[in-house]
Amino acid sequence: MKIIGLGKGIPKECVTNDQLSEFLDTNDEWIVSRTGIKTRYVCVGETLTDLSATAATDALNKANLSAKDIDLIICTTICGDYCTPSLACCIAERINARCPAFDINAACTGFIYALELADGFIRVGKYKNILIVSAEKMSAKVDWNDRNTCVLFGDGAAACVVTEGESVKYINLSSSATPNTEVLNMPNGTGNSPFAAEKKQNEYLNMQGQKVFKFVVNIVEAELKLMTERTGITPEQIDRFLLHQANKRIIDYTLARLKQPAEKFPCNIERYGNLSSASVPLLLTEMTETGQVKAGDTLLLCAFGGGLTAGTCVMTIDS
Ligand code: ACO
Repeated sequence: MKIIGLGKGIPKECVTNDQLSEFLDTNDEWIVSRTGIKTRYVCVGETLTDLSATAATDALNKANLSAKDIDLIICTTICGDYCTPSLACCIAERINARCPAFDINAACTGFIYALELADGFIRVGKYKNILIVSAEKMSAKVDWNDRNTCVLFGDGAAACVVTEGESVKYINLSSSATPNTEVLNMPNGTGNSPFAAEKKQNEYLNMQGQKVFKFVVNIVEAELKLMTERTGITPEQIDRFLLHQANKRIIDYTLARLKQPAEKFPCNIERYGNLSSASVPLLLTEMTETGQVKAGDTLLLCAFGGGLTAGTCVMTIDS
């Protein structure tokens, strides 16, 4: 499998840390020093379908394909505009595609899970051109009274078109076996069922930050070690590490542990915050647009999040 087009869809409204401190007990110094985040983009009038369709159209244009050339649409999201239709079906309607379309939920790791699925479909010859869209509207999922979580996230979409090729060298997916629901969750409510014993109204994201932080730094290190054991590719042979943009401190910790230079770990968390599953593909899109990823480069993509899930992909960039 190889990527032949990348695109993005970002809301217009950019919100600074100072704007948050106008209604929340927080400040720019805390947010920047603890997370690296300076701004995030937030939907005002846009739906997630709007952002996704923009990203999808951008990726199709870059791939020189039209919607009728796409055999399958896979979306990764925890924030779809509807439970049904899926976000993938909303995008299909918007771009006028007639192919099968469905969503998957692996939280922040969604894009790597989608790559694995697409790679499998392409390998067995079921589909040729697959559109992957990773899109999140976290502003609708966080509690804006909770300074522990709402300052961390933003909204945005990224898309890629993949097809037959030899670019993807390795993918590993995991989900943690230990009970993890309590450290990171986003509950569904009970609706207004008259039969439900307990009413569950809080549908916001809940996160025990420090516990998740510990899981993340350990799993990233374990994922990278496993990748080297299985492929023989060492960190020195990786040109760019594209890590999920959850916290700049996680990225700094990882590069220090691997003894790799900071320039190998590009970041856009300072502008976007945590975009859940859209973080890694958005970073890849921007790195490609700005020429910071070039033909011949070997990239490592690594994401982690709710589940607790994790995933790693190694790919080379074709000329
Ligand atoms: N502004 C000011 N103070 C704050 C804020 C804020 N926005 N948020 C928390 N604080 C306070 C806390 O109340 C606490 O105060 P106290 O000591 O008086 O109790 C203090 O700052 C320290 O809080 P911690 O939670 O210990 O801060 P920490 O350094 O751990 O940073 C953070 C929190 C940024 C959430 C970090 O733990 C983290 O990044 N965790 C990992 C997140 C992650 O990787 N998530 C995975 C993906 S998300 C997904 O899948 C949807």
